[in-house]
Amino acid sequence: MRESAEKQPDWSLAGQAAVVTGGAQGIGRAIVERFQQAGARVCILDRDCLAGEAAAKDLNGADGAHPVTFHAVDLEQIDAIPTAAAHVKSLYGQVDVLVNNAGVELDMPFPQMTAALWDSILAINLRAPFFLTQALQPLFPAAGGAVINISSIHSTHAFPNSIAYACSKAGLVALTRNLALELAPHNIRVNAVCPGYIDTRLWEEYARQSPDAEALGALTAALHPLGRRGVPADVSNAALFLAAPASAFITGTHLVVDGGLTVRAHS
Ligand SMILES: NC(=O)c1ccc[n+]([C@@H]2O[C@H](COP(=O)([O-])OP(=O)(O)OC[C@H]3O[C@@H](n4cnc5c(N)ncnc54)[C@H](O)[C@@H]3O)[C@@H](O)[C@H]2O)c1
Repeated sequence: MRESAEKQPDWSLAGQAAVVTGGAQGIGRAIVERFQQAGARVCILDRDCLAGEAAAKDLNGADGAHPVTFHAVDLEQIDAIPTAAAHVKSLYGQVDVLVNNAGVELDMPFPQMTAALWDSILAINLRAPFFLTQALQPLFPAAGGAVINISSIHSTHAFPNSIAYACSKAGLVALTRNLALELAPHNIRVNAVCPGYIDTRLWEEYARQSPDAEALGALTAALHPLGRRGVPADVSNAALFLAAPASAFITGTHLVVDGGLTVRAHS
């Protein structure tokens, strides 16, 4: 007991094969970079070919020691998921870490929501993580691995005009708990990260839809007790924490990364 407590924690992903959906930009790209720095080979699954190819090119160092590859896939299409899993199998033969990060946000007033938009958001943000995990599970080694779902503080807190997004992200936290139970016998840990406002394209698009983006920027920064919105590295560090061998006893939980936004009683 004493001996294991004295061991240095292992935060390395050396030799591991990781898959990051939506890794072409934003939070996903930061996770790809952090995992690569930790020693993993990383396959980006993303529907944005331009950004995906650029990310793989930018992140592949001259030595090519921990390569990043890009595979184009639209995860909204259910039939594309087995094909993407087959690609990962041919690339690595196994998967040690899967990050279900790809997601879309839609600022839509309640009366204007349509069934098609609702289905699209739920298909990308919730259905794809389930079926991609199901498709990749046979590729995890007997030693197990980690699945990390990128949810949101919308999973626990209500914001205007975001019902479909919030439901998808709350579903993702429920999915995390249930998959943790389901996959524990396979030594696969499943956890979620719930970011607050993070400065990415998704945030910029959200702000653009506001009549006064500058005021919204100041307001959202002030909402966080730590005085700023997050940056992608705040989330990628949390993802590495949950993926790493040092977190071997953590499963079924969600880690809030929001600068304290959701702990304040009022703003
Ligand atoms: N930015 C924030 O403030 C914030 C806060 C909480 C949670 N999140 C979550 O973090 C994740 C990443 O968000 P981001 O801010 O980096 O967004 P982003 O728009 O910068 O990046 C999202 C990536 O996902 C990809 N993607 C979207 N739909 C896809 C699909 N159908 N198939 C394949 N790829 C697809 C996009 O092409 C893009 O590369 C999302 O799940 C988002 O809901 C973001």
